Amino acid sequence: MSRLRLAILISGRGSNMEQLLKAASEDNYPAEAVLVLSNKTNAEGLETARSHGVAAKAVPHKDYADRESFEHALDAALREHDVDIIALAGFMRVLTPWFVRRWEGRMLNIHPSLLPKYPGLETHKRAIEAGDEEAGCSVHWVSEGVDEGNVIAQARVPILADDTPQTLADRVLVEEHTLYPHALALACEQVKKKPSS
Ligand code: GRF
Repeated sequence: MSRLRLAILISGRGSNMEQLLKAASEDNYPAEAVLVLSNKTNAEGLETARSHGVAAKAVPHKDYADRESFEHALDAALREHDVDIIALAGFMRVLTPWFVRRWEGRMLNIHPSLLPKYPGLETHKRAIEAGDEEAGCSVHWVSEGVDEGNVIAQARVPILADDTPQTLADRVLVEEHTLYPHALALACEQVKKKPSS
């Protein structure tokens, strides 16, 4: 079966994006990366994507009057590249129900907590302050509620006595880099079984 056409949406550094690009450069991976989009013109990840030979474009949300017109521009770029599946990787914009429904079952996200614990921001600080013994990351389908969609896969790490939010984030990020390519491959198998929209 042919490989799915993958787009990755970022806002910054793009270290997860880079791991997805590396995985998707292998012939036997179920997706090929065709596009990286950022809502920020200065996102570091745009250059990284280009250095991997993948088309990368900024669609600055600030250039649009409202969320929907911004998302129509994103959607147009995705359709132009005939995208089948979207991976959000540090994409820091909340998406409207319109966009989420349009890509339902074809869009996933990575979140740095063991969902359903700690949706939203400052996940590592909240896990430490709660006295949790472990933290981790989740890859999930994107649904209308922020960080609420069904979980595809998770990875866990211990929380150590002297952890700060940064040391914990660093330990979780190492796991994110392995988890996301694995979870995206699982997601592709599910998408391939569906009729195309
Ligand atoms: C990651 O921790 C991811 O889980 C969260 O934002 C961070 C993005 O990092 N959603 P990077 O841009 O992939 O390096």
